[in-house]
Parts: sequence; structure tokens; C-alpha cells
Amino acid sequence: MSSTPNPNPNPNPNPNDASDAQDVSWTLRCVECDVAYPGLELRYRCDCGGTLDVIHDVARQREVTTALFDARLGAREGPDRSGVWRYRELVLPVEPETIVSRQEGNTRLYHSPAVASWAGLDAILLKHEGENPTGSFKDRGMTAGVTVARRLGMRRVACASTGNTSASMASYAAVAGMEALVFIPEGKIAYGKLAQSLAYGAHTVQIPGDFDAAMTLVERVCAERGIYLLNSINPFRIEGQKAIGFELLQDLAWQVPDWIVLPGGNLGNSSALYKGLAELLALGLIPRLPRIAVIQAEGASPLYEAWTRSAELVPAPNAETVATAIRIGNPVSWRKSLRGIVATRGVVERVSDQEIVDAKAQVDRAGIGAEPASCATVAGIRKLVGAGVIRPDERVCGILTGNLLKDPELVVGYHRGELPGLVSTYANPPVRARLGQDGQLVWE
Ligand code: F0G
Repeated sequence: MSSTPNPNPNPNPNPNDASDAQDVSWTLRCVECDVAYPGLELRYRCDCGGTLDVIHDVARQREVTTALFDARLGAREGPDRSGVWRYRELVLPVEPETIVSRQEGNTRLYHSPAVASWAGLDAILLKHEGENPTGSFKDRGMTAGVTVARRLGMRRVACASTGNTSASMASYAAVAGMEALVFIPEGKIAYGKLAQSLAYGAHTVQIPGDFDAAMTLVERVCAERGIYLLNSINPFRIEGQKAIGFELLQDLAWQVPDWIVLPGGNLGNSSALYKGLAELLALGLIPRLPRIAVIQAEGASPLYEAWTRSAELVPAPNAETVATAIRIGNPVSWRKSLRGIVATRGVVERVSDQEIVDAKAQVDRAGIGAEPASCATVAGIRKLVGAGVIRPDERVCGILTGNLLKDPELVVGYHRGELPGLVSTYANPPVRARLGQDGQLVWE
């Protein structure tokens, strides 16, 4: 793939791809101006620039029951085995044989008295999305995005990423036999994620700017070259990602918790969580909505600023945080995310890097473990409990978005006390020993 951008972007470079594929039950609708488009039109934004929602045929969905989803839980193969496609009527009603799946989802929900007590809660539930096939929550959206890419006849897919989206897309593209192109901020993604992108065979382009610059670049390259864009601006990514809430509710026997707390970067995940829960409510499958709390890193908190000022989001240039996954200053899905926070009487909180690494040490030490951005969740819960926003006796579910092994450098740096500007409050440094001549261990 050459990298010279064409100065004349064509927003619909390959209109024939979707020509025989318009027979679907959903449409696309702009979140800003309500204009509707055909369900499989090759577009990611409305003509007005707004992002798009997938709007389902609710009449068809009314036949679905929680008992149907429960009956599918025991499946050994096929779409029912996936924690996304088990809910396919609500995700995307596609032909099962077109689905590109790695049996994603089916992640565990942990009780952790140790983390609960540190956060100031009587109890806590942690849904570990780092237990997905590529080690992050991104696999839920990616299975839907790549399935639609195949349905559209696309051969090449692309994304900008802070590392997890690219790892996930690279894997699913490989499974589907597609070419993958990823743009990542050089030196700013965790090593485990870079390794995955290379290993799964993606063309991996490191750019000198940050995620926001990579995002601008990829939107342009995709439009010019007829490559399918698989960032969460792609509305089908959001549809797959919704299953995070479906599965969590199913884990809880469809009992609605008081709070669901998750980290916010590009804000696709929180948008998806709300959309899915609102759809469950509208179908009468749950009686009420939980409150959603989105936690941002202090150095990358434009949603927090917008929410506290009740204003439009102003991009935060030069976003900076140790939680590289959420080092994003200009989140694409902020409006969709804010819609859910407002509708659920939710909140946005921000936490410092020190709070993130200390929360991470607690989550890790509890035997669960997660990557830094995930632990913003727990740092945020602790802060919200401290501020009296979350009561200690409320039922709180935190989403851990990525696996501990994604960012081993930060873990080792923390425990060795080598993270610049941060205190290793709960350090567990490695020690040195050797065998002495008398056969005894000699500590150094
Ligand atoms: N946690 C992790 C581990 C992430 O990788 C991300 C986003 C988030 C939280 C934030 O989720 O963007 O939906 O608000 N990672 C993206 C990526 C940006 O490229 O992998 P969000």
C-alpha cells in the first residue's frame, strides 16, 4: 500500500460493493440531524458531519426474550457460542454463515472483596473484558465490523489506534482473509499491542503525531482508497460493542445494577453500552437503566470538561497519560456518549495518573489484573465513593477493558519504582539472589 494521500477524497469510492447487499432490516440515522440512510451504505458520517446510529426494526426484535438468550448459553459451537452473536437479533440480524467470529465475549464477572474495600464499597463486580480473544473489549465491536466488511465485499480494512483496536482488527482481518492497515502513534502504544498487530500480519504504520492525528489520517486514507474504516466511528462497531451490556445483564440474571463504570477514551464503548441498555429497556427486557459513570485520565479529559461545563466538547490538544489506551484529546463519539450519561443520570469523573497506577496495583494484587486504562475504572469508583456520588451499599459493576499483559513495561516500571513523576505506593520489586559456594542462597 502506498502512503501518498490523494488530494481529491471520494467519500464513496466503491459504490458497487453494497449493490446486492441492501436487503437488511436496519437503517442508519444521523445523531445530529436525524437524516436516515440505507443500512449498508458505505458511509461513516452524515452529510452534515454527524456520526451515525444503527436503527433497528423494533417490530422484529419484539419476539426476543431473555429466556431465548439464556437457552443459547450452553451452545458448544456456532453464533450462540459468541457473547456477541448470542444476542444477534439485537446486535445485527445477519445470516449466521456470514459472521466472522472468534467466540468473543463470555468474559468473567469477578467479585473482589479486596478491591471493594480499597474503593470504599461493600462489594464490587468487575467484568473482565481483557479476557476476550485478543485481550480487550474491542473484539465485541470488531466481530460486527468485520462481518459487515465481508458483507460489503471489502478486502481491506483500516483503523487508527492506541493499540487495542489495531490488535483486534488485525486478528479479525486475518481470520476473514482481509488485508489490515493500522495507524498508530509512534512510541505511544504499549508493547503487547504493537506485538499483536505485527504478529497478526497487519501493515503497521507508525506516525509521529498522536492518536487524534492518526484518526484524521485514517479517515482520509479510507475515503480515498476504498478501504473499510473500522474505528468506532463505524456504527457497526458500536452494535457489536453493545453486547458488553447484554452479557453483563445476563451474568446478573437480568437484575439491573445501580452503576456501570467504565473508562472513556474515544468514547465508543460508553456510547455502545448506553445504546444497548436503552434498547433492552425499550423492549421491556429490563425494568430500568443503571447509571453510567465514565472515567477519564486527567491529562486526556475533554468529556469531563464538556460535562462539567454543560457545553460542547472542546478538543484537548497534547493529551497525556500513562494509560496510553485512553490518551485521546478529540474523541469521535463524544455526543453519543454524553447522550447516555445524561439519560441515565450518570456522571463523568477524571483521575490522575497516580490514582490510575495505584488502582491498577490493587486490581493486579487482587489476582485479577488489568491494563492501566482499565484501572481508571476502579480509581474512578474510589473517587466517586469518596465524593458521596456512589453510596458504599450500591451495586457497582466496573468494566476492566484490557488484559494485564498488554502493558508489561508499565507494570515492571511501577514495581521497580521507575515511573517518572509517579510514586510506587504498592511496589513489589523483584529481588536478586544467587547460589553461594556453600549451596545457600545469597541475597544481593
Ligand atoms: N480501555 C482500553 C483498554 C482501551 O483500549 C480503550 C480504547 C478504552 C478503554 C477507551 O474506550 O475509546 O471506547 O472510550 N482504545 C482505543 C484503541 C482508542 O485504539 O484501542 P473508548
